Amino acid sequence: MSELILETTGLSKDFKGFTAVDSVNLQVQRGHIHALIGPNGAGKTTCFNLLTKFLEPTRGKILFNGIDITGEKPAEIARRGVIRSFQISAVFPHLTVLENVRIGLQRFTGTSFHFWKGLTGLKQLDARVLALLELVDLREMAQLKAGDLPYGRKRALEIATTMAMEPELMLLDEPTQGMGHEDVERVTDLIKRVAEGRTVLMVEHNMRVISRIANRITVLARGAVLAEGDYDTVSKHPAVLEAYMGSEAAELQGAH
Ligand SMILES: Nc1ncnc2c1ncn2[C@@H]1O[C@H](COP(=O)(O)OP(=O)(O)OP(=O)(O)O)[C@@H](O)[C@H]1O
Ligand SMILES: [Mg+2]
Repeated sequence: MSELILETTGLSKDFKGFTAVDSVNLQVQRGHIHALIGPNGAGKTTCFNLLTKFLEPTRGKILFNGIDITGEKPAEIARRGVIRSFQISAVFPHLTVLENVRIGLQRFTGTSFHFWKGLTGLKQLDARVLALLELVDLREMAQLKAGDLPYGRKRALEIATTMAMEPELMLLDEPTQGMGHEDVERVTDLIKRVAEGRTVLMVEHNMRVISRIANRITVLARGAVLAEGDYDTVSKHPAVLEAYMGSEAAELQGAH
């Protein structure tokens, strides 16, 4: 298999004459945690919407594992293993944490997801549920109603239900948004853990998080790629510092 799991060429999205994503050539290496950063309105979320086909690209191509998926529907892309957290995996507040994860897994009964093959019976299902709860550090909270979880833990549960879908490429749009310091640390560790054996593409504003876990960073500004590289390269890049200006530039410098 090629070392690129995802590649876009000339990916673009116009909204009524305004170009929100402008000829983006993105190359995501298999096994990486790849961060997509950029100032507000840079086109990061729109990019995610194009990759999952929530939006139709105006121009350009998307290759996943070398296969052109530009013309595919969201469900087909999800079936290939490109899963965006919070896309399909809604959290049901009145069900327990455990029930939420179990439902996430049961949705795959009868589909071609590899781990499911040959598995029968509730026992194996529950073993898998517990393993996922363990992974996201929610085993002790398994019997709590999902709606009663603190905010940070709710995001962890969402990540668990996304993991139930066995994503090969997991897309996370601002996973630490709105979290306090402790939850940010916890979710950062969690992302690192779930990234083992898969690829993560994440939008993230918190530079400390990025400096800790991102293998590679693509900086978007006004829809176009401004810079690319590892954290040290990107955080010193003059154009990046200029695009961020003010407080966020200070944040870029101060993350280490
Ligand atoms: N459906 C839409 N119709 C028109 N314009 C849109 C639409 N969606 C996004 N835009 C515009 O496209 C640009 C990029 O938006 P996008 O949400 O992708 O940015 P972002 O990088 O995710 O920003 P943020 O950091 O604030 O989340 C913005 O100027 C936004 O107003
Ligand atoms: Mg966004």
